Amino acid sequence: MERKNRQITAVIVGAGHRALIYASLAELHPEQLQIVGVVDPDPIRRERTANKFKLAPEAQFESTEQLVRLAGKIADAAINGTMDALHVETTLPLLEAGYDVLLEKPIGTSEEQVLELLEVARRNRRTVMICHVLRYAPFYAEIKKRVQAGVIGDILTMQTAENISYHHMAVAFIRGKWSSEAKCGSSILMSKCCHDLDLLAWMKGEVAPAWVSSFGALTYFRPDRAPEGAGERCLDCAIEPACVYSAKKHYIEQERWSSYVWPHHHLGITTSHERQMESLLTDNPYGRCVWKCDNDVVDHQSVAVQFADGSTATHTLTGGASKPSRRIHLIGTEGEIEGVMEDGYFVIRRPDPRKGHEYSEERVAINVSRDMHGGGDIRLIEDFVRVLRGETPSLSSTALECSINGHLIGFRADRSMAEKTVVKIPEVDVQ
Ligand SMILES: NC(=O)c1ccc[n+]([C@@H]2O[C@H](COP(=O)([O-])OP(=O)(O)OC[C@H]3O[C@@H](n4cnc5c(N)ncnc54)[C@H](O)[C@@H]3O)[C@@H](O)[C@H]2O)c1
Repeated sequence: MERKNRQITAVIVGAGHRALIYASLAELHPEQLQIVGVVDPDPIRRERTANKFKLAPEAQFESTEQLVRLAGKIADAAINGTMDALHVETTLPLLEAGYDVLLEKPIGTSEEQVLELLEVARRNRRTVMICHVLRYAPFYAEIKKRVQAGVIGDILTMQTAENISYHHMAVAFIRGKWSSEAKCGSSILMSKCCHDLDLLAWMKGEVAPAWVSSFGALTYFRPDRAPEGAGERCLDCAIEPACVYSAKKHYIEQERWSSYVWPHHHLGITTSHERQMESLLTDNPYGRCVWKCDNDVVDHQSVAVQFADGSTATHTLTGGASKPSRRIHLIGTEGEIEGVMEDGYFVIRRPDPRKGHEYSEERVAINVSRDMHGGGDIRLIEDFVRVLRGETPSLSSTALECSINGHLIGFRADRSMAEKTVVKIPEVDVQ
């Protein structure tokens, strides 16, 4: 069969929320992708996923070691959507067995892990793509095209911000799976903003980051900031009716974040209203008061970077904003680009010293839905398929090599924050 148009086969590794989003390409465009196996130690997730993609019992596995030992290489690729601390451990056997891998971010939970993965991927000549979905969101892809074309000259400074909404902060980084670095393996900078740090490195192209410093703290979501009268759980709390963090409001009345809060919701399993209420009151971690959880990640952090050419960048994350938003402002020698992804447009300004003018401004509208990371999720898996078919990688390509520098900024920023020092970023051969 001609390689260019062939269908790519893949095994799902970690049949969770994220992997199933990418795997949905097999339903949308079966001529591009076919799911031929599933790996997950959770029997419910494994079986549900197997039913969804009509997989025989011989195509279902509890671990990647078991897949490789019992069946060897049964697909072109693996879609690895395991949690952060398992990314490298589960990917290494796949690479040794000859699979190409689409891997969720962050690549790993330490610099050592990331560099080990790079070494093993190179030794086995495998393709690993990282799910930096924002590179594929048309908002950022259109900005990158203009930077690449030299529209704003050489970048001198970059300012980015991620403002995590109060309900997203609560579900993911206070009550949820990424709330504790000790448990999840990732700091909030790595689990949430490795995307933004990746964008900074991507915008600078071949100019590597050289130095970083960072400050941050867990200031608000801690027991000593709990309002007077706050209970342990929202369903048993005197101030719940007035509380903006109420689990009842977020997860029952507004039905937000169901895939996190209700078991196996992303696989079509529903939880009755009575069971939802009972679990939030008793054993569901998402029913806990946001000031009385076991969270240890910071709720705000600022990072400053200097690149090898002297240009600089700052990134600020804030958890608890009213409006979720990602901002970017790039200022170059010949102009600037500024925008907020959720607003659906950015502007390009250039100096315009004609009489009566100060600058010209072009508004670039991005027509894309607000969900699926500004349209990035499906575009990313489609690009992965194209790369495996042997086509030229897109401008957004998130090959492992291209994703290393953003991760180095993050790991070293966290070290800077902990040690209160300016930290050198090592040079890694990523060509
Ligand atoms: N790209 C993005 O923008 C983005 C957004 C959200 C989350 N993520 C990342 O996606 C990853 C997955 O998040 P999620 O919410 O889908 O997680 P999830 O908990 O829904 O899914 C993880 C799955 O891995 C399975 N698993 C556990 N051990 C395993 C093993 N040894 N082998 C195979 N499977 C195993 C679990 O049973 C579970 O089904 C995380 O690393 C997260 O940081 C990325």
